Amino acid sequence: MDARDYFGYKNPDEEPGGQDPADEADDSRPPLFEEAVTLDDVAAVRRIDPDDMLGRVADLPRQLAEAGKVAETVTLTERHTDVDGVVVLAMGGSAIGADLVAAAAGERLRVPLVVHRDYGLPPGTGARTLVIAASHSGETAETLSGFAAARGRDLPLAVITTGGRLAAGASEGGLPLLRYKLGGQPRAAIGFGVGLVHELLSRAGLFTDADPLGPAAAAVEALLERIGPSVETAANPAKQLAWSIFGRIPVIYGHGPMAAVAHRWKTQLNENAKAWAAFEPMPEANHNAIEGSLNPRELAHGLYVVQLRDREEPDEIAERYRVVDELLGERATNHGEVWAEGPSALARVLTTVAYGDLVSVYLAILYQTDPTPVTLLAMLKERLARATGSDPTGAT
Ligand code: PA5
Repeated sequence: MDARDYFGYKNPDEEPGGQDPADEADDSRPPLFEEAVTLDDVAAVRRIDPDDMLGRVADLPRQLAEAGKVAETVTLTERHTDVDGVVVLAMGGSAIGADLVAAAAGERLRVPLVVHRDYGLPPGTGARTLVIAASHSGETAETLSGFAAARGRDLPLAVITTGGRLAAGASEGGLPLLRYKLGGQPRAAIGFGVGLVHELLSRAGLFTDADPLGPAAAAVEALLERIGPSVETAANPAKQLAWSIFGRIPVIYGHGPMAAVAHRWKTQLNENAKAWAAFEPMPEANHNAIEGSLNPRELAHGLYVVQLRDREEPDEIAERYRVVDELLGERATNHGEVWAEGPSALARVLTTVAYGDLVSVYLAILYQTDPTPVTLLAMLKERLARATGSDPTGAT
């Protein structure tokens, strides 16, 4: 079932309307709990996930390795390396990669990095800002708008994409172009999203000490062997977590690098499981979110808090988690934790990303919802393109 069925949409771009009597059959309604599928039933999983989003999650290590090779082909000039800031123009699944890279690097990134999720350029972008336009499709309105503004001002620019108008613009302007090949959904290109930004910044000399991609990819592979689809629920903590979240709204907590990962979990739970989800950065959440767990009272059992923990988190953050645990326990809010693993900060970020990606697809399967199509998101883009004209840069 995809989102269109829930909302009564029948054609690619049609308003919700009257039900076709044929669709009133029992199999058109959302599944009830007692009809839940098992995550260990290979045939059921294949039927619900026909485009193999589970397989896409497992592609992360390969994409990281491929990203390294793509980045090697690019030539950067002094204008791209002698900079005092980085702005990444990107949206959604193409934006989170840069957040994750910056989060994993922390103070090892020599200059501030801003991910700009909007039209145009952020304030303060200047001649010594490296601007990276990243879009899987190369057709995203906001990203194209910022790219056009940066080109208009002749700022140091580089492009990460599979094609579209962004690739055409980069070729036309003779700009460094990190072009990768991957069909499917932008969010399933996270290995490229992280790997290409990481390697571009690394080649530009913007890390004091970069984490290598290889061990991070190996750590993800090792994790996937333990929590991947072939490992039965009884021995698989990611499948068990999906069951815990099933029927509840997940709220993901994270600190430092894990805050960016919590954001990724939220977006994957939205787009794969088509589910409500929220994320809360620590320690800020202790100054507001903790108070918001009471009302409406009927929902007290309807939330599931996941704390993303990192062995490198400071003691004061660990202590905060302990107290939050106590308070959530007293209020009977359901909660659990996932620990990052791996030999480097980048590895810990990526293993926790892969964990969340799998949980989001397992949850989609429990909801008997095909994780791959993003029907409403695509409809929104179509309608906006129609309303604003075909060129989102406003050039025509
Ligand atoms: O996950 C998605 O499909 C979206 O969040 C897209 O990444 C977002 O709409 C931007 O599109 P693109 O990644 O093609 O620039």
